[in-house]
Amino acid sequence: QVCSTSTPVTTVSQYACQRRTTTENHNKIFTDAFEVLAESYEFSEMEGPCLAFRRAASVLKSLPWAVRSLGATLDLPCLGEHTKAVMEEVLQCGRSFEVEKILSDERYRTLKLFTSVFGVGPKTAEKWYRRGLRSFTDILADRSIHLNQMQQTGFLHYGDITRAVSKAEARSLRNIIDEAVRAITPAAIVALTGGFRRGKEFGHDVDFIVTTPELGKEKILLPNIINGLKKQGILLFCDYQASTFDMAKLPSYRFEAMDHFAKCFLILRLEASQVEGGLHIAEGDSRGWRAVRVDLVSPPVDRYAFALLGWTGSRQFERDLRRFARVKQRMILDNHCLYDKTKKEFLAATTEKDIFAHLGLEYIEPWQRNA
Ligand code: CTP
Ligand code: MN
Ligand code: MN
Ligand code: MN
Repeated sequence: QVCSTSTPVTTVSQYACQRRTTTENHNKIFTDAFEVLAESYEFSEMEGPCLAFRRAASVLKSLPWAVRSLGATLDLPCLGEHTKAVMEEVLQCGRSFEVEKILSDERYRTLKLFTSVFGVGPKTAEKWYRRGLRSFTDILADRSIHLNQMQQTGFLHYGDITRAVSKAEARSLRNIIDEAVRAITPAAIVALTGGFRRGKEFGHDVDFIVTTPELGKEKILLPNIINGLKKQGILLFCDYQASTFDMAKLPSYRFEAMDHFAKCFLILRLEASQVEGGLHIAEGDSRGWRAVRVDLVSPPVDRYAFALLGWTGSRQFERDLRRFARVKQRMILDNHCLYDKTKKEFLAATTEKDIFAHLGLEYIEPWQRNA
């Protein structure tokens, strides 16, 4: 530190899991710009720069103050030259020309549009772009394109699914899931996770963990919940993935984006009458219902704390938890377990606090994980 003033210098950690990040973002003008750049690099499969911009955005999100000059960022980690050049543009002109160029770029715009459809990832979007397709009309008119069931549903409910889910809607969905689960086994555990657990006002979906206190009994949960929702006539789409979880394969699963627990990606029909204050839908839309995305994951109860920590997010918080575990503690953390490579043993946990303690981290509350 080159600082010789008497004001205490609070150092900001390069790890999101050592920072407290609420939903209140004082640096949105910068982080919005970084997100566009990150996404653009993601579309070009340039992981390095993509991650660099996501890390920089995450650092700025954790600040309880707005950056008003580059001088104020001297002590901050994860801000490289490119990042600072973008910040300088934003500080001087209120916008970044590099970002504006991306936003008007045909490829970026098209990939952004296509990936906004449920079931369409960057690979498919790229394939369609290369075929010369530029709009939904182009896709739907192209008879050589086969849309899978997920994508068909994505187009069918496009307006609803791209519209944010409100807290009131999330509460109503919680009641629906609670009831469906209680009909199967009254002892079942239902926990809200994902962005709503972090205190977000809006989400792109609602995430729940469901399990049973009796180990092994969780296996009957998801198929039965799905059946119950079907019987109620509110199941619009269901992609169910059975468990491939095997304790014997831990901790050697190769790095994967997905965990191995049973899960389902759903689209449910939510009635206006069930939502306090009404649905979050377009003005002038007089339907009495909307479609909403719901994710359910069902780990065995002895894996509950790891699954809860892994599904609460944010994605950047999770990335840094794992990186911290690996780099600082020689441990492997994922949604299933925590493994100590030095001791060559699994570390048990029944709560998230146990996991933070094993990692030598101060506990960070869910609403402080909006990294
Ligand atoms: N997640 C995961 N495995 C998946 C899907 C999601 O571990 N197959 C984790 C993600 O890492 C994330 C959390 O579950 O931390 C929630 O994912 P998601 O619903 O996509 O994001 P949210 O943070 O809930 O944000 P949003 O409000 O947009 O839904
Ligand atoms: Mn504040
Ligand atoms: Mn979510
Ligand atoms: Mn989700």
